[in-house]
Amino acid sequence: MLGRRGDGYHDLETAVLPISLADRIEVHAVSNPTQFRTLSLSLEITGEPDMVRRVPADESNLALRAARVLAERAGIRGFAEIHMQKEIPVAAGLGGGSADAAATLSALNDLWGASLEPGELSSIAAELGSDVPAMLRGPSLIRGRGEDVIDLRAMPFHWVLVTFDFGVSTKEAYGWWDEDGGGTGPDPGPVLEALQAGPAELGPVMFNDLEGPVARRHPRIAEAKRVLLGAGAAGAVMAGSGSCVVGLLPTAEPLSAQVEDELERLSGRPVGYVTSPGIPPE
Ligand code: C5P
Repeated sequence: MLGRRGDGYHDLETAVLPISLADRIEVHAVSNPTQFRTLSLSLEITGEPDMVRRVPADESNLALRAARVLAERAGIRGFAEIHMQKEIPVAAGLGGGSADAAATLSALNDLWGASLEPGELSSIAAELGSDVPAMLRGPSLIRGRGEDVIDLRAMPFHWVLVTFDFGVSTKEAYGWWDEDGGGTGPDPGPVLEALQAGPAELGPVMFNDLEGPVARRHPRIAEAKRVLLGAGAAGAVMAGSGSCVVGLLPTAEPLSAQVEDELERLSGRPVGYVTSPGIPPE
C-alpha cells in the first residue's frame, strides 16, 4: 500500500491471480427497444444458507448494480434474469462479489448486444468497485485504487484457503491500516519475478500491508498463518482485505488430515484447495 489519497481511497500495488473457486452466474436476457418500454432486472441467489444470508439480494447487490449501470450506458430496454450460485465466501478478501459483477457485465454486454469496447466495460467496472476491472482479466498487477490493470505472467500454483466464520469489511480494513500508522512493505518487484519462478521463490516474498492491521483485530488470522508455515507451506498471506488466509503449497499434495483438522478448529470452516492457472512467459 502506497498511501491514503485525498479522496479517501488508498493507492496500492497488488498482484491478483484468478483461482479455481468460482460462483456460477447464469443470465437470461433480452434487449429489444421496439418490444419493451422499460428495463426489468431480477436476481435469484442460491447456495449454502450461511453463505446466501450474507449476500444482499436487493438493488445494492454489485451484480445487479452492474446490470443497471450497463443498461443505462447502452440505453437498454428489455430484461435480465440473473441466477447466482454462491461458492466464494463473502467478505473474505477473495473478490467474490467483484467477480460476480464482472461476469454479469461481460455476459450482458454480449446477450444485450451492447457491444461496449473492453475499455468502456473496464471504466464501468471501476465505477462499481476498485477491484472489479481486474476481475475482467487474467493474472494482473493492479495500481491506483485498483482500476489500473496490467497483465501479469505467472506459473500455475496450488493453494490452500483458510476461510473463517467471520468476515472483514474492506472499508474497515483500510481504516485500520490508517489508524495503525500505515506501514508500507518492500517493493513488489521480487513478487512479480517470483510469480514466474515457482512456489519456493514466491512463498518467502509474498506480503500484504493490510494483514498486520487486520490480524491485530483478528488474531486467528496470524494463528492460521503460523499453522500453515509450520505445516510446510512455501508461504502464507492474508488475501486482499481479509479475512481469508491463503497458503502456497510446494506441490499438489494436500496438507495432512491432522493439520486440516487443526485449521478447521481454528477457523470454524473446512479448508479448501484451489489452483491458479499459469500464463507462461513470452
Ligand atoms: O472500491 P470499493 O467499493 O471496493 O471500496 C470499498 C472501500 O474500501 C472504499 O470505500 C474505501 O474505504 C476502501 N478502499 C480504499 N482504497 C482502495 C480500495 C478500497 O481505501 N484502493
